[in-house]
Amino acid sequence: MKEISDREEQYLSIVNDILEHDEFMKTKDIMHHGMNRYDHSVRVSYYSYKLSKMLKLDYRGAARAGLLHDFFLVDNEALNIKEKLATLVNHPKYAVAYSSKFFELSDKEKDMILTHMFPIAITKVPKYMESWVVDTVDNAVSICEALYCRKGRFLKYANVMLIVILNYLKF
Ligand SMILES: [Fe+2]
Ligand SMILES: [Fe+2]
Repeated sequence: MKEISDREEQYLSIVNDILEHDEFMKTKDIMHHGMNRYDHSVRVSYYSYKLSKMLKLDYRGAARAGLLHDFFLVDNEALNIKEKLATLVNHPKYAVAYSSKFFELSDKEKDMILTHMFPIAITKVPKYMESWVVDTVDNAVSICEALYCRKGRFLKYANVMLIVILNYLKF
């Protein structure tokens, strides 16, 4: 993601093993909100990290769980409508199971992934503040991507606006 500069050494040191993992790299080939799942996940991870840092929460866990929150290799575009609806609610479970195969997850990180579809998955209420952060960031990023991903210019400006706001808030 372009907005993550080399200055973000701390962020990159937290997530680099995931970003460069062969299995995680496969998400680059899966469409998600009209773009690829890798970029969506990095975006959710990075803003969850920033927001958690500002709120003095577990930014390390938020960065890692944010990156893994959609880590499953089913291509939604290839599903029929019934399967898509089931996946919409169930994919956090798939993501925890798949992520656990390759990476060690704390209970809190599992919760961040499992509850990121709240309130669509109404019974999966976040237990931790960090889970609320990942859930909120994913909702905001997903809406932006779904509505405007094909209008690259808007997405670029939306990202720039987010960076300006985050920098203004100094987190
Ligand atoms: Fe998701
Ligand atoms: Fe997501």
